[in-house]
Amino acid sequence: MMKTRIFAFLTAFAALSAHAEDGSSLWLRTNKNTTPAVVKSNDKSATAKIAEAEIATYWHGKPVTLKREKGMPDNDGYTIEPAAKGDGLVIKARRSAGLLYGAYELLRIQASADGNKAPKTALDGIHLSTAPAFNLRILNHWDNLNGSIERGYAGLSIWKWDEIDERHGTMSIGMKERLTQYCRANASLGLNATVLNNVNASPKMLSAEYIGKVKVIADMFRNYGLRVFLSVNFASPMGLGKLSTADPLNPEVRAWWKNKAREIYKEIPDFGGFLVKANSEGQPGPGDYKRTHADGANMLADALAPHKGIVIWRSFVYGNHKGEDRVMQAVTEFKPCDGKFAQNVILQSKNGPLDFQPREPYAPIFDQIKHTPQMAEVQITQEYLGQSKHLVYLAPMWTEFFKFVNPKDLCGIAGVANIGDDKDWCGHQFSQANWYAFGRLAWNPSLTADSIATEWIKQTFTTDKRFLNPVKDIMMTSREACVDYMMPYGLHHIFKADHHYGPEPQGFYPKYPIEWCPVYYHKADSVGVGFDRSSSGTNAVSQYREPFASMYGDLKTCPEEYLLWFHHVPWTYKMKNGKTLWNNLCAKYNRGIAEVERYVVTWNAMRPYVDEQRFNEVSERLQIQLRDAWEWRGVCLGYFSSFSKQAIN
Ligand code: GCU
Repeated sequence: MMKTRIFAFLTAFAALSAHAEDGSSLWLRTNKNTTPAVVKSNDKSATAKIAEAEIATYWHGKPVTLKREKGMPDNDGYTIEPAAKGDGLVIKARRSAGLLYGAYELLRIQASADGNKAPKTALDGIHLSTAPAFNLRILNHWDNLNGSIERGYAGLSIWKWDEIDERHGTMSIGMKERLTQYCRANASLGLNATVLNNVNASPKMLSAEYIGKVKVIADMFRNYGLRVFLSVNFASPMGLGKLSTADPLNPEVRAWWKNKAREIYKEIPDFGGFLVKANSEGQPGPGDYKRTHADGANMLADALAPHKGIVIWRSFVYGNHKGEDRVMQAVTEFKPCDGKFAQNVILQSKNGPLDFQPREPYAPIFDQIKHTPQMAEVQITQEYLGQSKHLVYLAPMWTEFFKFVNPKDLCGIAGVANIGDDKDWCGHQFSQANWYAFGRLAWNPSLTADSIATEWIKQTFTTDKRFLNPVKDIMMTSREACVDYMMPYGLHHIFKADHHYGPEPQGFYPKYPIEWCPVYYHKADSVGVGFDRSSSGTNAVSQYREPFASMYGDLKTCPEEYLLWFHHVPWTYKMKNGKTLWNNLCAKYNRGIAEVERYVVTWNAMRPYVDEQRFNEVSERLQIQLRDAWEWRGVCLGYFSSFSKQAIN
């Protein structure tokens, strides 16, 4: 009797704990030690203390020594080597953050080898020396003060502003736990900065009350090597202050920003600086006063310079040059300012010239701006890639970008975060991989998408090859599948207005700017489809460096994945495989669907290797993805066939 009861209890408990697998642990899943691992350190900083604690708690191997060394290069890098004497490992770094990153590297190697055991051989004789490619590795949260998130698909903001007591410098226990995990996750990847609020910024963000709250977050993040930045509204001197102008050349406006900077740095001495979206999509900016972007950015740069802060100025602008092809407008607007920015200004540009489409050619602003430090902005949140409903692994897209834009020419990389207060953080178990991959590439952009997927799967799910290989195959092919069912051959921006989830090729909305309308982008007519950006069209190709300008500009040499991005192509045009454009288009949509069908089958076979909750969640979402892929095909081909007058096949 007793036995049965105990058994019943145990079964119920097991069911409960199986149910508790909700993805909240991210890729940080190593079991805790029963007795702490041996760890020593010559660094007494709070950051080093965290590194020590992580090792003591989660490292199942030989003793580890953490050593700060003055002689090493002054960056966030570290080395890991066998100890000169005795049995153990030494992590050396110039900075405390380097020690922390080294500690997480050890844990990553351990978790990737075999869940919970230190890999004996992999670490014997280890000689690892690494430093980040970019100085600034930053997440951009598009979080609003009311808790909503622009383009967020994983619940509400993790910044619970009303759970922060700025007078006492405290936050709620729940928030603290959540943010601790956030900090660990970011530090485990080597990310070193975060922008807390939406680029469409509220002036209120800079109020004394909110600066006080931001300080509480910054005080915590600092220990994990994370610096805090804020997006600012250019018209804050009017919206928050009492001034009647935000003209960057007005002395009172300049004084307002100087004072504001002083106020912030008094609370947060290592505050990173401002991120600014100006004269873009209705946001205020220097253009409102007939001033240039340089005038605007330099005013803020002057205010931040005494405190060593920086201005990250976004180049995502359009609509200020009526009639010009949208993808050309950033260069038109920023090239005249090149060389005129203050030293502490960085220009941040999206990877493609339009807006985070599943595939874009690289943005030519990276070729055109030569005298201003630049950063790339990629979107981790899947605004145009099925949001948190579709399984799409983004690392292949980002490594593709680095084939065209040399990471050495960039000083930083920003990722628009996909993080919210959902239990699983990102709204889809596999969207976590995109946060992970962004961080890994921000450290080392020459890592392959494949190796990052391997690491992530091993840490997040299992090292079992029967799971690893098929699931990695899904991840590695998923971006191309998404391109196939959403925007084959470079068709772009045929998403539904506002939410950008499903297809709307017929989209034409008189109340919106033409650059928001799908018909502006695909230009389907009885002859063909696609946007002519060659010299016979808008000549956007001329903004590219050679050989790309010539290659993209000629229909014969344009890579087929960008065909309809750069050319208006007849439906009957014969493509490389000898088939017509129309038939190839049909085939691409079909291929996209077939891929997702394959994912469903593959994932079904994964049931034995994954907990029930995550298995079910992913299954459900794959069904949605499949339904959506069919919808994209049906809607797009249905619409285009009314122009091509050809049967869908
Ligand atoms: C896209 C997105 C907006 C966002 C904008 C930006 O257009 O849809 O929500 O504000 O990019 O990057 O500023």
